[in-house]
Amino acid sequence: MKATLRIQAEETDRLTVAIIDFPLMLQALFRDWSVGLVKVVSFFLVFICGIILGLAASAHVTRYFATKNEFFPVPRNSPNCVKEIVEIESCLSMKGFIKPEKLLHSMTDEELFWRASMVPKKREYPYKRVPKVAFMFLTRGPLPLAPFWDKFFQGHEGHYSVYVHTLPDYRLSVSTTSAFYGRQIPSQEVKWGTINMADGERRLLANALLDFSNERFVLLSESCIPMYNFPTVYNYLITSKESFVDSYDDPSRYGRGRYSRNMAPDIKLHQWRKGSQWFEAHRDVAVNIVSDSKYYTIFKKYCKPSCYPDEHYIPTYLNMFYGSLNSNRSVTWVDWSRGGPHPATFGGPDITEDFIFAIRNNGTTCFHNSEPTSLCYLFARKFAPSALGPLLNLSSTVMEF
Ligand SMILES: *[C@@H]1O[C@H](CO)[C@@H](O)[C@H](O)[C@H]1NC(C)=O
Ligand SMILES: *[C@@H]1O[C@H](CO)[C@@H](O)[C@H](O)[C@H]1NC(C)=O
Ligand SMILES: *[C@@H]1O[C@H](CO)[C@@H](O)[C@H](O)[C@H]1NC(C)=O
Repeated sequence: MKATLRIQAEETDRLTVAIIDFPLMLQALFRDWSVGLVKVVSFFLVFICGIILGLAASAHVTRYFATKNEFFPVPRNSPNCVKEIVEIESCLSMKGFIKPEKLLHSMTDEELFWRASMVPKKREYPYKRVPKVAFMFLTRGPLPLAPFWDKFFQGHEGHYSVYVHTLPDYRLSVSTTSAFYGRQIPSQEVKWGTINMADGERRLLANALLDFSNERFVLLSESCIPMYNFPTVYNYLITSKESFVDSYDDPSRYGRGRYSRNMAPDIKLHQWRKGSQWFEAHRDVAVNIVSDSKYYTIFKKYCKPSCYPDEHYIPTYLNMFYGSLNSNRSVTWVDWSRGGPHPATFGGPDITEDFIFAIRNNGTTCFHNSEPTSLCYLFARKFAPSALGPLLNLSSTVMEF
């Protein structure tokens, strides 16, 4: 490197000398023809060297300014279609329209929700549509149970999509073979118990709706696990006529007590509902949730602690307009039996075959398309990171994946 630099410096000197020498050389040319000829030849050699050097240097400068552009890159969240306009997958291609390949985009929530609210009038699809389940993870950051989910997803590509909403600056680090790889959506701050929790949920729904093959949408947290293998979960959801959004009337101060009279007359007390945040919804219901502005705005204004939008907004909204499409129950098991404001968390020592069987059949009977069944819970929470090892141990036997 040093050697090259020195050579370049020397050549530059010689070039300068050659230019200065030019008039002198012309004089010499007239003084002595034979000596002059030699001088002319050597002059041109030096001159050509100079030109080559000059060209090389200018190319270098151009390249420098080209790379300099990297310091002012196209915004990270730039729309797929702008970046890839020269590639086949442009905005107007079918592929990019029905299933955006990259999840990053620069749409605001307002723009995103508008786009996600689009419903094709034509009921037949001009392509082979395999309905998928969208698994939407709402988390602050890490997904400690991701390896367990990866086993669950393995071999079922094309039947699911994964979406992850984290804190805005969090970068999920997973291997390129993971189902979670490259699945973070443009996210914003989410504070538990505030309206931006509902924003996060709606943002997940809206991003997932952009893929027209997503048929069912399930909201999960980093502490959730699947209770059955993929085919069981998939068939249960895809064949269900109803959504699984917990929605009930709680007369206590933790239910009706959180209703605000200011919500009337748009929302009346008897319409007010409560339910677990961890919902599962059919595409038709999901589209309506992202399309609503009126009731969302009322919740934003009047549902403040001790009213929590994530426990009331979707349950109430569905009860008001789409009750007949809802089973009113959740498919996510949770243990509130210990009392207190938080449900029980299970760690390594809790994970046994018997425990899994007890969750799968805890004595509840529910309905699936009006048929009674003991298969009520497809997912369960809350599981600590220490549960991962024992869960992986059970995956091939009890879990069958
Ligand atoms: C769920 O509640 C709605 C009222 O919001 C009701 O119309 C519907 O029948 C209920 N669904 C089931 C399965 O009971
Ligand atoms: C089964 O689990 C659910 C928790 O999601 C709970 O609500 C229900 O009471 C449990 N059933 C029995 C019989 O313990
Ligand atoms: C997995 O199971 C084996 C045998 O049942 C047991 O010896 C081992 O400790 C288990 N590992 C974990 C992480 O639970």
